[in-house]
Amino acid sequence: LGQLAELTTQLGYPATPTDLAPRLEHLLASPEHLVLVASRAEGPALAWIHVFLAHRLEVDSFAEIGGLVVDQDLRGSGAGALLVEEAARWAKSLGCRQLRVRSNEIRHGAHAFYLKRGFHLIKTQKIFQRPLP
Ligand SMILES: CC(C)(COP(=O)(O)OP(=O)(O)OC[C@H]1O[C@@H](n2cnc3c(N)ncnc32)[C@H](O)[C@@H]1OP(=O)(O)O)[C@@H](O)C(=O)NCCC(=O)NCCS
Repeated sequence: LGQLAELTTQLGYPATPTDLAPRLEHLLASPEHLVLVASRAEGPALAWIHVFLAHRLEVDSFAEIGGLVVDQDLRGSGAGALLVEEAARWAKSLGCRQLRVRSNEIRHGAHAFYLKRGFHLIKTQKIFQRPLP
């Protein structure tokens, strides 16, 4: 859990194992979410991906990558590609015909990565959020 928190922090979302534990428990309990962790043999976690089924009234259900990160010292060695292919396999096995990812416009490296993995840009968006005090 410590290594997952470290990777999450590298993704730009500072997190502790205590933060992650209930989130992970929630995701692992649902058949509509998949969390995969990559490691060498029994070694520490080197990368993780979260993919989930997204349901909308306006379009058929699709799969969406909620997060993906590879340890900063191991990028470019194929771990990201491996995790995306596994996520795609899972989504396809559940009947999804599309795999989507939202990626911050500043993540140019990730954009190049997704384009190489068969994704294409379909739109850009602004994200709005309202606090709920
Ligand atoms: C984006 C990320 C997940 C890619 O994982 P990775 O393990 O480094 O990528 P891979 O080694 O599997 O690369 C697969 C292909 O994408 C290309 N690629 C990967 N990162 C790239 C980059 N920064 N710029 C250009 N191409 C890139 C590789 O060259 C490779 O091409 P090939 O198939 O021709 O050999 C990883 O760099 C990362 O964790 N980045 C920081 C967090 C992030 O941006 N996550 C995505 C959030 S939406």
